[in-house]
Amino acid sequence: MSFLVVANFKSNLTEAEVKTWLSQVKPMPGMVVAPSFPHLSMIHDLKPMISLAAQDVSSFPPGSYTGAINAVQLKELGVTYCLVGHSERRRYFHETSNDIAGKVRELVSSGITPIICLEESDVVPQFSALEAEYYDKCIYCFEPGIGLGGTVTATIADIEKVKNQIYQFVPEARFMYGGSVTLDNVESLLPLKLTGLLVATASLNPHNFISIIEKVAHVS
Ligand code: PGA
Repeated sequence: MSFLVVANFKSNLTEAEVKTWLSQVKPMPGMVVAPSFPHLSMIHDLKPMISLAAQDVSSFPPGSYTGAINAVQLKELGVTYCLVGHSERRRYFHETSNDIAGKVRELVSSGITPIICLEESDVVPQFSALEAEYYDKCIYCFEPGIGLGGTVTATIADIEKVKNQIYQFVPEARFMYGGSVTLDNVESLLPLKLTGLLVATASLNPHNFISIIEKVAHVS
């Protein structure tokens, strides 16, 4: 698998802005884009070579859950990965580890790989909420809940610590890092032997995003 660099647009960008962004990038191995829901199919149509991630999914199957977007629908839109448990979902939308476990079950049964975002304090509750059969079906992303959108990442020691905590549940887990990754600091993270990076603020500028991918390209 290529080293993944996931652009998390969060709740940013209009349709016109996403089109402009797309016009300035060429698909590259490991490039994954996580736009807002309304832009998933547009990206799939305009640049089918770019892997898609959703930013969230319903924890319920298809049915009477007004407003929910389910995993089957995401699969139909060409989605390969889905973020779950992002610190903003946990904080602002009050998602619990049980909610997130439900999302993981729905995604896996639809053939979408969950990227479970975790802070250190989430690790034990999140694994406790999920059946062991799902553990190696997920990618884990340490994302410190504070200090996002800046220019200073968590320390190497902190990232290693969370990786080792996750390894206690899933030896050799696929493990990513996200939080204030920029073009200037990305190289400092490479000794960590990560599966990939989650990049939000810096990914909104397509040139920065491409440059980050170029810097990590030799890691895969
Ligand atoms: P950031 O956010 O890159 O803006 O720090 C990362 C994330 O929350 O996905």
